[in-house]
Amino acid sequence: MEKREQLYEGKAKKVFATDDPELLIVSYKDDATAFNGLKKGTIVGKGVINNKMSNLLMQRLEKAGIPTHYVEELSERETLVKKVSIVPLEVIVRNIAAGSFSKRYGVEEGVVFDSPTIEFSYKNDELGDPLLDEYHALALHLATFEEIETIKKYSFTVNEQLKAFWRECGVTLVDFKLEFGRLSDGTVVLADEISPDTCRLWDSKTGEKLDKDRFRRDLGGVEDAYAEVMKRLTAHI
Ligand code: TMP
Ligand code: ASP
Repeated sequence: MEKREQLYEGKAKKVFATDDPELLIVSYKDDATAFNGLKKGTIVGKGVINNKMSNLLMQRLEKAGIPTHYVEELSERETLVKKVSIVPLEVIVRNIAAGSFSKRYGVEEGVVFDSPTIEFSYKNDELGDPLLDEYHALALHLATFEEIETIKKYSFTVNEQLKAFWRECGVTLVDFKLEFGRLSDGTVVLADEISPDTCRLWDSKTGEKLDKDRFRRDLGGVEDAYAEVMKRLTAHI
């Protein structure tokens, strides 16, 4: 597979063309941002961990019937993926109150929900990724009714799979963000990444935060937290 020109550089990843028009290479960086890019920093080794972790989890989800963009890990930081056009929705599934949910609704962090919640944000940096509902997404032509149904179904299955897996690793899956894309034939697949950048992961015994909240909230021990969840995952997979 021939790596060609860089197509895009995001906050945490770069995307390159390949000699196959249906395939891209993503390269994971150590750069970290929060609050819509307002806070910037580096988490040393993050790119390597997120690449590996996301690939392992996507392979597991494929086995559970969720189509993903994953094709092949090429190196420590690089992965071959199917080219998609991203559905401009950030899909957030929550099992426990935290972050913006706690703030918005005045609920203490750590309150466990009877059943998981799902919400959507419009993936648009200029607007600050505003929260929207399915009818807004339809009105804005961000996705079709059928696509939204598929995305919800996949997202809850991803939650069940990941929750069970992380539980076996002694980690509580609090919430996470997913992105989906369309292949050239219109098939909806899970895209982007699944990593401590995009999930809240708490130690099941101590409640210690093992994710990007350590960076967002200046809690220290950021690199150690990423290394710890990676260690638990590889010990178990
Ligand atoms: P929130 O509580 O800040 O809305 O975040 C919910 C989940 O989504 C949390 O696991 C972190 C993840 N997330 C992202 O992956 N990217 C983002 O830009 C934001 C705001 C949250
Ligand atoms: N990565 C996002 C940003 O920079 C936010 C986050 O993950 O908290 O805006």
